[in-house]
Amino acid sequence: MPADKQTFRKQIIEAIASQHRPTVTVLSSLLAIQDAIGYIPDEAIEEVAVQQDTTVNAVFGVASFYPNFRFTPPNNHSIEVCWGPTCHLEGSSKILQAVLDYLDLKEEGDTQDGEFSFRFNTCLGACSQAPVISLNHELFGKISPDESIKLIKQMKSSEPKHT
Ligand code: FES
Repeated sequence: MPADKQTFRKQIIEAIASQHRPTVTVLSSLLAIQDAIGYIPDEAIEEVAVQQDTTVNAVFGVASFYPNFRFTPPNNHSIEVCWGPTCHLEGSSKILQAVLDYLDLKEEGDTQDGEFSFRFNTCLGACSQAPVISLNHELFGKISPDESIKLIKQMKSSEPKHT
């Protein structure tokens, strides 16, 4: 196994091990891995199966049931716009439309240039700061559509973040 593949596998094992027992499950392990490396590679499915003493098919069944898991690496930068109830009341639909227009996307997904992975979020956990967006997992609250686009443009010229 090449060194980078070993490192990758180690990252997966560490993500699984980072969870607090005894509440570790197939689902919690998959969530920990996606948080750590941004997606669920085949190696992760295998490792979770070994560590949870189950089959690859059973793990894949769980992973494929939840639409929030992705099976391909994300683009360089992540963008999430909250469209939960509080953010909606505070005008998140205008942010959402501005961001989709800027990214030239119609819905959640990855931009063609490899720069951005965009997702909706039903609550980013900072409702008092609504409307809220998350850029590379950093929250920005009480934000306008114009400010959101400005930050996204700045992010484009910064170092890639893969998780
Ligand atoms: S509804 Fe947007 S942060 Fe909670």
